[in-house]
Amino acid sequence: MRQNTAIDNMSSDSAAPQIQDGDSDIDIKTFIHGMPKCELHVHLEGCLTPGLARQLAERNNLPLPPSLSSLDPSQTGYTFHDLTSFLAVYYPNLSVLQTEHDFRDLAVDYLTRAHAQNVKHVELFFDPQAHTSRGVPFPTVIRGYRLGLLMAQRTLGISASLILCFLRDQSAEYAMATLMEALPYKDALIGVGLDSDERDNPPSKFAAVFQRASKEGFLLTAHCDIDQANSITHIRQCINEIQVDRIDHGTNIVEDESLIETIISKNIGLTCCPVSNSVVTSDFKGREILTLLRRGVKVTINSDDPAYFRAYVNENVEKLARESDVTRKELIQLQRNAFGISWISSWRRNHFLALLDDYEAKMIQSQAMVNGA
Ligand code: HPA
Ligand code: ZN
Repeated sequence: MRQNTAIDNMSSDSAAPQIQDGDSDIDIKTFIHGMPKCELHVHLEGCLTPGLARQLAERNNLPLPPSLSSLDPSQTGYTFHDLTSFLAVYYPNLSVLQTEHDFRDLAVDYLTRAHAQNVKHVELFFDPQAHTSRGVPFPTVIRGYRLGLLMAQRTLGISASLILCFLRDQSAEYAMATLMEALPYKDALIGVGLDSDERDNPPSKFAAVFQRASKEGFLLTAHCDIDQANSITHIRQCINEIQVDRIDHGTNIVEDESLIETIISKNIGLTCCPVSNSVVTSDFKGREILTLLRRGVKVTINSDDPAYFRAYVNENVEKLARESDVTRKELIQLQRNAFGISWISSWRRNHFLALLDDYEAKMIQSQAMVNGA
């Protein structure tokens, strides 16, 4: 982080760094925690912690999935080292999700954690095909998640909505059938996305599905995972063929100047996930994230699959703060971007942006942001 802080050379498990000058001793952790935040890239199925998975297995009288039966109960995390090995753990774990009640509990569990990190609004991905493909009916999934969102909204006040993702390693026909199943639940959804294994599964494979989704009134996003074989081609397809409103990950766009200009002019934001990047590739892509941010791209910071990467949104922002020269002003800008490209009404957007303005003013007053940092 640039200026005012001693965090540049600290590793992520060091003690929280303190501001070095001015009157304030607000450390970066406290600064990030206090910031009103918006999360736009988090998979509900990626929020299934080992603890909740064990509880659900017990409640449903099911055996533990392999990743958990081989895990020492005192250990808190799953093990994998790249996207493929991550997905190989992620899908089998979902066997513990069976009833509407289970999906509701998963949503409430994540939203409770996000609320505790001062997240004000979240747009949540879910993968219905990861459940319908193993015999769980679509209505069970969506009704459970919808109820979880309503409960969290009522009890915690956190704002949340759902984005249905198609699994790109399944057929376009299956995606279209899933979209048709979703139509009676349109009021519970704000948009559609595309996730799972990107290799040999370009966005263009789903052009007709996205076109129909758009006609039905859904907003559009798609994963362009980090350092894929055809990253730039896939990003170009998303922009030109699919006409996405956002791109999930997508930082490889730094390699193509004309695409950067295009997404700036079309106001297409990127939902980046530093900790997930650092696990599935060898780098958290902080340099790319900051280059794009400083060019004026609407870059945002998110957690992706927090139960797997063991990092919720605050830990993702902290990683960027500790391991790059991002300034505090830029950390606030990242949240402005997130509320700015979120799929909410303009009056709610203005409400959240006003909270950020108040936070920035309070931080300036307390000397936690000086010299433009
Ligand atoms: N990439 C692709 N598919 C996914 C991911 C991801 O990071 N998380 C859950 N499904
Ligand atoms: Zn993702």
